[in-house]
Amino acid sequence: MDRLRLGINIDHVATLRNARGGASPDPVRAAIAAQSAGADGITAHLREDRRHIRDADMAAIKDAIEIPLNFEMAATEEMSRIARATRPHAVCLVPEKREERTTEGGLEVAGDANRLTAYIAPLVDMGARVSLFVAADPRQIEASARVGAQVVEIHTGSYCDAVDEGRTDAAAAELERIIAAAAQAADLGLEVHAGHGISYDSVTPLAAIPQVVELNIGHFLIGEAVFRGLPAAMAEMRRLMDLARRVA
Ligand code: PXP
Repeated sequence: MDRLRLGINIDHVATLRNARGGASPDPVRAAIAAQSAGADGITAHLREDRRHIRDADMAAIKDAIEIPLNFEMAATEEMSRIARATRPHAVCLVPEKREERTTEGGLEVAGDANRLTAYIAPLVDMGARVSLFVAADPRQIEASARVGAQVVEIHTGSYCDAVDEGRTDAAAAELERIIAAAAQAADLGLEVHAGHGISYDSVTPLAAIPQVVELNIGHFLIGEAVFRGLPAAMAEMRRLMDLARRVA
């Protein structure tokens, strides 16, 4: 199996910075550090409420790194304009609610297919890889191929929560859904990524799914970096991913 790509989401470095309103810790420095430590890409989410990453961060990260930037955003006109000015390698469309603590569910693609088809086309035309963050739901996967996305990122949050809470039957059921969704997406010609809530405890079965080519991981690794530093935190994740791939 091919080596799995590890994308690092640096949003929560900005969360920490914003807690004090100053300039540190700097998410641009975090992106450079992740790149130096072997990240295959950097993900940053410019939310409508700018609660962590801000407009200037996104532009500065794009300028500072050589690895691909994955610009995560809601499918709004404002974000389309900013993405087209930023020209990232990839755009990942996610659902967004002001009151949520994090991206809670997948994008409603099937019920919004016409609008998304028109929304995605200019992003693809400018050369971005367009990814849709979707639940492991056959309807949403099928619709993702229909609206012109090249990539789906499967939401792993329910599976990871079940692992973290010791609900083994629920974790197994969620994992089965993710495995089926990954196979369906690949059959439809979509590139398959996965992300949300991944930790050392939950990564192995996800990394073993043959169709998955990229994992995007943020909150857990930024937290772990407090204790062992970002390179060591990432190295342990890399080790677990590579081992899972070899065994599979
Ligand atoms: N992928 C997507 C599309 C996300 O929305 C997020 C969270 O912003 C992540 C990956 C990373 O999730 P976490 O921070 O829980 O690792």
